[in-house]
Amino acid sequence: MEIHLIEQRVEVIQCDALVLGVSNNKVGQQRKDLLLSEKAMEVDSLLGGLIQTMYEDGEFKGELGEMVTLHPMNKLAAKRVIVMGLGSREKMYTQSIRRASAIASRHLQQTGAHQITLALHSETWDIDVNNSIQAEIEGALLGLYTFKKYKQSNTNGNERGITRIHLLANHASETSLNLAVDRGIALAEATNFARELVNEPPNVLTPTELAHRASTMAKQFGLECQVLDRTEMQELGMGGLLGVSQGSAEPPKFIILRYLGAPESENQGIALVGKGITFDTGGISLKSPEGMHQMKGDMAGAAAVIGAMHAIAALKPAINVTALVPTTENMPSGTAYRPGDILRIMNGKTIEIVNTDAEGRLVLADALSYAVKNGLSPIIDVATLTGGIVVALGSVMSGMFCNDQDLSSDIIAAGQIEGEKFWPMPLDDEYKEAIQSDIADIKQTGGKYASAVTAAKILEHFVGDAHWAHLDIAGTDFIDSKKPYQEHGATGVAVRTLAEFVLRRAK
Ligand code: BES
Ligand code: ZN
Ligand code: ZN
Repeated sequence: MEIHLIEQRVEVIQCDALVLGVSNNKVGQQRKDLLLSEKAMEVDSLLGGLIQTMYEDGEFKGELGEMVTLHPMNKLAAKRVIVMGLGSREKMYTQSIRRASAIASRHLQQTGAHQITLALHSETWDIDVNNSIQAEIEGALLGLYTFKKYKQSNTNGNERGITRIHLLANHASETSLNLAVDRGIALAEATNFARELVNEPPNVLTPTELAHRASTMAKQFGLECQVLDRTEMQELGMGGLLGVSQGSAEPPKFIILRYLGAPESENQGIALVGKGITFDTGGISLKSPEGMHQMKGDMAGAAAVIGAMHAIAALKPAINVTALVPTTENMPSGTAYRPGDILRIMNGKTIEIVNTDAEGRLVLADALSYAVKNGLSPIIDVATLTGGIVVALGSVMSGMFCNDQDLSSDIIAAGQIEGEKFWPMPLDDEYKEAIQSDIADIKQTGGKYASAVTAAKILEHFVGDAHWAHLDIAGTDFIDSKKPYQEHGATGVAVRTLAEFVLRRAK
């Protein structure tokens, strides 16, 4: 894919489609005014006020995601003009631009366009031009992603048809704009890398294959990569990861990726920890068959942190970051761990097993202990941990449990820029009662109520004094239905937020 910033008069831009952004503004109770971006205004006057007329006739309102196609009939060099609605001015944020760009790009990909020019933002709007351009390219690359590698006949011959994206700007050579484009490309590519890992079927993406893909990526980007095997886990006392893995024929792995952006610094840096269950059957406490196939996505936390390292390695912030990924399958078998077992985690604490389907907290407990032992802080873990968070927040927001106010605010702010929502959830100590055990240090589960919270309270036992945030992405990692801005399947949630968080902490 060829991607460039360009600086040209709208009438001479040669492409299959020129995409313009249009917002609206409420005036009084009923009426709304159409707000044309600078470039939309120029096109409107070249076409004799066509866009305004369509608006006045009620054909187009400028709502977010609304789209009309105009055929300029040789009045412009562009073959088609797409007018994209960005919604109301007060609610317009980078996410509106990201979504609109994705919708337009997907539509154009399916309707025969190859070379497209995006001009969704406007310097006349009070939204930062660099952030807008970044969102514009992110939206396009995220929207164009498909997962069709196992389909022999591609039903739509136009797919993957877009070969060139130009981004129209007033000053194409400005350094900050070019950096914004580079960031957008790096963040979108990293997100799509994570989506690919999650979309892969579980017979292909085993723990061994996940480790292989992480180490290949690490080599490509100059990251340090270390993969611990079962013997090394035994030496470290990783009883949680070993316990969960003992029912599987696939060997478990503990993946460590290190990025040293501040090699002179005393500070060990940030830890990103991801749950890497490549398939979760529930183990002896077997899940019901409905929807079990979706448990190939139970490594979306792992994909998010590996994806974030992909972006971090590409953008090179001056800070140290380590990703830790405990990865295994959770299978039932004659060698599987059982309800009633007691496991000893790396930090010495014991857990009484009551339901082998609550495996994520066990593998994370070892990884969090490893992070603490290695002096990493803050620690951010990402996991498809509980059905409870899906009940609470659905697929719109991820749940965030955090023991430090600054860390929590920084994650929410990074998410806002990147179009990902994290909602603060409680870590109140009264929830501890539910996970008390008579025979071990902790009981593995706290019953059916507040299950996302009691799961987080278990993790809290393994973070020592570190600043820590736990992101439960069980509802946001995957979408079942096709959206106009996105293919169904993996979303790559948290990749961009984690990368943006790290970039900001490096400043
Ligand atoms: N991987 C699941 C959580 C999950 C549920 C992810 C739905 C995505 C969609 C996790 O390992 C699990 O099974 N959790 C159980 C724990 C329970 C047995 C205490 C849950 O939340 O139901
Ligand atoms: Zn489970
Ligand atoms: Zn799971």
